Amino acid sequence: MQSVTMDNALELRGVSRNFGGLRAVDNVSMTVARGTTHVIIGPNGAGKTTLFALISGELEASSGKVWLFGHDVTSWSATRRARQGMSRTYQITNVFADLTVEQNVLLAIRGRQTGRLSVFKQDRPPADMAEQIEQLLVRCGLEGRRFVRAGDLSYGEQRLLELAIAIGNEPEILLLDEPAAGLSPAERGPMADTIRQLSKSLTVVLIEHDMELALGLADRVTCLHYGALLAEGTPAEIRANEEVQAVYFGGAGGHA
Ligand SMILES: Nc1ncnc2c1ncn2[C@@H]1O[C@H](COP(=O)(O)OP(=O)(O)O)[C@@H](O)[C@H]1O
Ligand SMILES: [Mg+2]
Repeated sequence: MQSVTMDNALELRGVSRNFGGLRAVDNVSMTVARGTTHVIIGPNGAGKTTLFALISGELEASSGKVWLFGHDVTSWSATRRARQGMSRTYQITNVFADLTVEQNVLLAIRGRQTGRLSVFKQDRPPADMAEQIEQLLVRCGLEGRRFVRAGDLSYGEQRLLELAIAIGNEPEILLLDEPAAGLSPAERGPMADTIRQLSKSLTVVLIEHDMELALGLADRVTCLHYGALLAEGTPAEIRANEEVQAVYFGGAGGHA
């Protein structure tokens, strides 16, 4: 068996998770090299989001092990894994509509630093943090949107704001759960560009349902089906894989 090394941002070995009688994640192994973009695909209900929760520590694995930058984090809490440099976004949009873009980012950075999860309507960041926020917004394609109420952003911009929130504390590995879900075709381009830009400085693990978007961003791809690993490989290998084709285009297991 290959040994665990610091060269890998993430390693899963034989990870499973049961919900009652349902095995939502079934004996999945996966290796994500530092600095790469790894995409997880699979039909609705394949276990992708559950796998993310096992990686982030929000759920405990029923069996198997998880390593983060060479540390066995299997028994670590989500908070401890986050302190080790892991950050994630959710499938469901998760911003505070009544706060400005700047305040949403401020809240995220400050909340994680101090555990204080409050911000007042008039709150402005201190000068040094204002510069940090400006940089974040530029990196996430939200230049010029800083003082806009988050609820007044387009849906695509709200999803970009989630990226800004997720990278606020400069994580080393970023988990994105369907960041392009619900985006219009016109909004997908800016999202893909932003992820591609972020992936130059971070390890990215991305769940994405849109095959073209997923394969365009990935260095490697893992395909799940009924909780289990169906295929793993480069985008070209996945594109050519007949089992993957059957799952995606052959009507075996619907997808949203
Ligand atoms: N907390 C939970 N309790 C019970 N069943 C769950 C729970 N979370 C997910 N599941 C089930 O696990 C399976 C995988 O779900 P999920 O990981 O959300 O899939 P995906 O993200 O690939 O669509 C589904 O059958 C889902 O209904
Ligand atoms: Mg999901």
